Amino acid sequence: DKQQTEFTVEQATSPVSAQDREAMLANPGFGKYLTDHMVTISYSAEKGWHDAKIGPRHDLQMNPSTMVLHYAGEIFEGMKTYRHPDGGAGLFRPEANARRFNNSAARLAMAQIPEDLFVNSVRELARIDRDWIPSEGEGSLYMRPFMIGTEVAIGNHPSDAFLYAVIASPVGSYFKGGVSGVSVWVSEEYTRAAPGGTGAAKCGGNYAAALAAQAEAAKHGCEQVVFLDAVERRWIEELAGMNVFFVFDDGTIQTPPLTGTILPGITRDSLIRLARDKGMTVREEPYGIDQWRADIESGRLVEVFACGTAAVVAPISQLKGKDFDLTIGDGGMGPVTADLRKTLTDIQFGRSNDPHGWVDRL
Ligand code: COI
Repeated sequence: DKQQTEFTVEQATSPVSAQDREAMLANPGFGKYLTDHMVTISYSAEKGWHDAKIGPRHDLQMNPSTMVLHYAGEIFEGMKTYRHPDGGAGLFRPEANARRFNNSAARLAMAQIPEDLFVNSVRELARIDRDWIPSEGEGSLYMRPFMIGTEVAIGNHPSDAFLYAVIASPVGSYFKGGVSGVSVWVSEEYTRAAPGGTGAAKCGGNYAAALAAQAEAAKHGCEQVVFLDAVERRWIEELAGMNVFFVFDDGTIQTPPLTGTILPGITRDSLIRLARDKGMTVREEPYGIDQWRADIESGRLVEVFACGTAAVVAPISQLKGKDFDLTIGDGGMGPVTADLRKTLTDIQFGRSNDPHGWVDRL
C-alpha cells in the first residue's frame, strides 16, 4: 500500500491572539470561526496518499476545471473534540467516522483513505489547536474532514486525484433556541434520497439537494424539514441533517431503519446502544407520517427528538404539514430525551465512565 502517514508540521506564524480566541470561544455559534491550522493530504493514482501536512489554515487554489467544481465529487465527516473535567480532551468514536468516510468514498467512486491516517489526521489537528476546545458548558471543537476530486478535467469520470483536508471550528448549540423544542415541516414536494441513490453517503450533494426543502420548511416557520421516502411518500426518513427518534407512552423507542436511503448516524447508533443498555426496547422499523399524526393526537407518542453530531439530541415539539399543525408534549424536552441526552453527553465530555470504549483521548 503506497501511503505516507508522517505529517510535516508547520506552526501558524500569525495565529489568532489569545484574547480574540477567548472572545470567539465565549460565543462560538456554529461554524462561524475556524482554528489556526488545517490538515491537507494529497492523493494521486501514481503516488497514493502523500504530502501529509499540518500547517497554517490557508485558502485553496484550483484550476476552474477541477472536477469537484463541476460534478460535486465531495464527501465529508463531522465529529467533535470534547473538553474533559481534568483539562484533557477526547474525540468520540473517530474510527466510526473513518469507516463511514470510506463507505461514502466508495459510493462516489473516490479513493479510500487508510482509517488510521484519517483518525490520526483529526487527532493531530485537535492537538495542535487544543486551545480552541471550549471548556465552558456544552461547547466543543467541531472537526470537519472532507475530500474533493481534484483531477483537472471537464469529462465526467472518476477523478484520479484527490485532496483530503481537515478543518476545525469551535461550536456551541446548532439550534438558535438551544435545547428548546424544534419545529419540523413535512415536505410533500421534495424527497432526499431514492433507493440506489446516495442517501447513505455523507456527500455534499445530499445537503445541497435538501436546501430547497429546508427553505420550504422555513417559509412555513419551521427549523427543519422531515423527508418522506421517495417510493411511497409515506415513511419517515430523516431531517435535512439529522436522524429522528420517537418515544411512546409504553416507554419503547423507534427510529427508521437503515435501508440505504438514510444517513447512518453515529449519534443514532450510540443512542440505540445506550437505550438498550438501560433495558429499553428500541425498534428500527418504518414509521409512517399518518401514524405519527394519529399517535400525537391519541397521546400514544410522548416525545420525538432529532439527533446528530451537530444537533446532539434536540427535542422536536411541533409537526407541521400542508393541512396539519400538531404540538408534541409541552414544547420542551421530555424525560426520556433528557435522560438519553445526558447519558450520551456525560460519556462524550468524560464526565462518566465509558462502557463501550468510545472515547479516544488526545
Ligand atoms: C453533523 O451533524 O455533524 C452534520 O454533518 C450535519 C450538518 C448539517 C452540520
